[in-house]
Amino acid sequence: MVRTSFGGGWTQQKLEILRRYLDSYTTALKNRPFRLVYVDAFAGEGYWQPGSGYQTEEYDDFKEILEGSAKIALDIRDKPFDRLVFIEKDPKRAMSLRQLSAQYPERDIQPITGDANEEIPKFCGEMDDFDRAVVFLDPFATQVSWDSVKAVAATRKIDCWILFPLMAVARMMPIGSEPSEALAGHLDRIFGGRDYWKMGYRESAQISLFGDEPRQERSRGNEQIADMFRDRLQSVFYSVAPTRRVFRNSRNSPMFDLFFAAGNPRGAPIAINIADHILKNW
Ligand SMILES: C[S@@+](CC[C@H](N)C(=O)[O-])C[C@H]1O[C@@H](n2cnc3c(N)ncnc32)[C@H](O)[C@@H]1O
Repeated sequence: MVRTSFGGGWTQQKLEILRRYLDSYTTALKNRPFRLVYVDAFAGEGYWQPGSGYQTEEYDDFKEILEGSAKIALDIRDKPFDRLVFIEKDPKRAMSLRQLSAQYPERDIQPITGDANEEIPKFCGEMDDFDRAVVFLDPFATQVSWDSVKAVAATRKIDCWILFPLMAVARMMPIGSEPSEALAGHLDRIFGGRDYWKMGYRESAQISLFGDEPRQERSRGNEQIADMFRDRLQSVFYSVAPTRRVFRNSRNSPMFDLFFAAGNPRGAPIAINIADHILKNW
């Protein structure tokens, strides 16, 4: 099921969904012997500020200062996270995160200036048996590599929120022909292989007048591209929430789909219930 939100304010919705999930997740696990870790892999700067670099055509609804995901995670209170990892590639934003982290000297916070696609597999490889984590993948566009998603899923200890850049991916998949080799390479990185996005294409029924190779055309609409990505998630995670949230721009075009996937076989049923309830209701 897809729940759609229209118009402005989608970033606030995204962050509210995250906040509610983090709150429920930590509360649900508070009496268990786990070290609870929050990993913000595209962490931003802790706050959204008017006129910041986030204001692009598709991030045009910021008129006020908002708390960003890192600050939201820091302020989860009923059962605070035992450890927080903030990964941010942009040095200035990473510096803001360091300053934010310094305001919480008693907390175990690791701000990393680096590339999420390098840092996530490292984090996954270093998890202890008693670590359980939530990873938030919140890119501007197509920065998340499938290898990172796969590494997260393979731990079987991580729940993951993933913002899938539907509009950017759909633009890489032309309707009337196959993508160029350069775009195909990007799509391979996003889907983890050629077969997974190529199933969105078929041979055109139009007969070629010049006897050349039959043309390929896209056979799937944008929503079905998001379905293809959901199927990919389902192939590596224990479970994926049935509901996803579609975020639209001011022209009502779908830009991003927010997915939730759970990796831990024992924890997945409750995690999926919580996330699905939030995705349906907020
Ligand atoms: C949509 S913003 C994140 C907003 C943040 N979640 C919040 O709520 O404040 C995406 C961030 O990812 C950063 N970024 C882009 N590519 C990255 C990469 N490969 N690794 C880590 N961070 C990256 C950008 O500099 C930007 O700050």
